[in-house]
Amino acid sequence: MSFDRSIKIAPSILAADFAAFGAECEAVEAQGADWIHVDVMDGHFVPNITFGPAMCAAIRPHVKTLMDVHLMIAPVDPYIEAFAAAGADRLTAHLEAGPHIHRTLQAINAAGCKAGLALNPGTPVEAAAPLLDMIDLVCVMTVNPGFGGQKFIHSQVEQVRRLRQMIGDREVHIEIDGGVDPETAPLVVEAGADVLVAGSAVFKGGSVANPAPYGEKIRAIRDACA
Ligand code: DX5
Ligand code: ZN
Repeated sequence: MSFDRSIKIAPSILAADFAAFGAECEAVEAQGADWIHVDVMDGHFVPNITFGPAMCAAIRPHVKTLMDVHLMIAPVDPYIEAFAAAGADRLTAHLEAGPHIHRTLQAINAAGCKAGLALNPGTPVEAAAPLLDMIDLVCVMTVNPGFGGQKFIHSQVEQVRRLRQMIGDREVHIEIDGGVDPETAPLVVEAGADVLVAGSAVFKGGSVANPAPYGEKIRAIRDACA
């Protein structure tokens, strides 16, 4: 498939029912999700713990779109094989997770996954410059990673604009993660983003038994950017 810069909504299952991840993935995909965003946290790189490769393997059969795995862990390298074997389509590692991000991205590519690079709000996007030819996505954090439901950091919009210039014609997505809702989404899309992660803005108000609100929320974000 050719590179697609149209707007994609990637619900984060961090905001889903932890007792029903498989069914939640199916429900949100049926309601129009483009990708499933999986937030892996280790209680060390970020002050929260979520889940690991075994959980990714368990939901894999329930994900028909793309499993977008955001690794908020340090170190990253010892776990790459396990997440690849669990069926991750993309592994996104943080530039801040260690001194050898280039080696980490090489290892992700060698494991057969697409490689993503995540940048915390305190990191200038210019740090991504030497890495742009080995990745297919930059994840610009618009909150400090660790928790869902935080407030969007507006100063990141200008960083997105600079990153879009840097990327030029490369087939590299700009993904926005944190505080995305119908008010903030148009700001980053206008600046050049094409993938919108949304946790609370999609999952709040719906459930596996009542999934229609998921579709309404996804459409509201999409429409706000049109
Ligand atoms: C934050 C995570 C995000 C988070 C987004 O550390 O990487 O993916 O779940 O949640 P909302 O959309 O609620 O800010
Ligand atoms: Zn995330």
